[in-house]
Amino acid sequence: MQTAADIVAEFAARHWVAVAGADLGPAARVPTMLTPEEQLLYHWLGRRVKGDGAVVDLGAYAGGSAARLLSGLALSGRACHVHSYDRFRTSRALWARYMPSEPLPDADDADLLPLVQRHLAPWADRVTLHVGDIGAQRWTAGPIEVLSVDAAKGSAMADHIAAEFFPALVPGRSILVQQDYLMSVQPWLCAQMVRLRDCFVPLAHVPKVGLVFLTVAPVTHAALIAAKVGELTDGKLMSRVREAAAWHEGMVQRAPFKTMLDQIKAHPGVRLGWQMRQARARG
Ligand SMILES: C[S@@+](CC[C@H](N)C(=O)[O-])C[C@H]1O[C@@H](n2cnc3c(N)ncnc32)[C@H](O)[C@@H]1O
Repeated sequence: MQTAADIVAEFAARHWVAVAGADLGPAARVPTMLTPEEQLLYHWLGRRVKGDGAVVDLGAYAGGSAARLLSGLALSGRACHVHSYDRFRTSRALWARYMPSEPLPDADDADLLPLVQRHLAPWADRVTLHVGDIGAQRWTAGPIEVLSVDAAKGSAMADHIAAEFFPALVPGRSILVQQDYLMSVQPWLCAQMVRLRDCFVPLAHVPKVGLVFLTVAPVTHAALIAAKVGELTDGKLMSRVREAAAWHEGMVQRAPFKTMLDQIKAHPGVRLGWQMRQARARG
């Protein structure tokens, strides 16, 4: 059995960058917002899974992250099932950008579900699509091997996701991917994780903005209360971002944390990523 130190060393070697593109099979053609390195990471994470619990994909869009996890799982010899969560709705602009060869819908808020079902058809027997607001979803399906978070676009949602899904992560084994971790308009992610530093060890920064963590202790109710970010004042949020910058010294440069602090200062009280981004665009 691998120790935490073994797993830290394994991720430090960044084995996913050596994955052959051909290994992804049909997954390579599923539209995705993931960077090329993230795509290889997701496949590799599926392939290296160590238990038979669930793999959870929070924020699936067109199914790109799920497809890459599934292509890896298909080679893993494990029975893990993927649970993908999203509203499965999209704007026309995103549709045109990520699915340019598909007929453009007439209006925004277009239904993505039929397309996602088609994209994930090669693995239909091992994926479940959970349609709707993740804020209304509960997790009761047992241990989670890999949890990918790409939907904590506001501080309240970050608290909800942590409360529902983090307690199912298995110490010494489960991997958490915080997809947007270093995004300047989502500073609550590092503010949350730094207060969970007894439960998670950072494993890798995967460009552009993702961080991968190993679960090392159970995420208890008390830990979740201490890590809450929904009600933080701007001052407390900034102080947690500074703590996170120190925590990640040696793995992540200071610049992304500095940009987060600038964003908080420029947008007092704003706790939704799209609002910070809009305000920035106007400014
Ligand atoms: C950046 S995209 C995900 C990209 C995807 N992982 C990929 O591989 O291309 C974020 C997704 O999160 C979803 N999302 C954000 N907030 C959500 C919520 N509260 N409930 C359900 N889905 C949500 C959006 O609909 C969007 O598809």
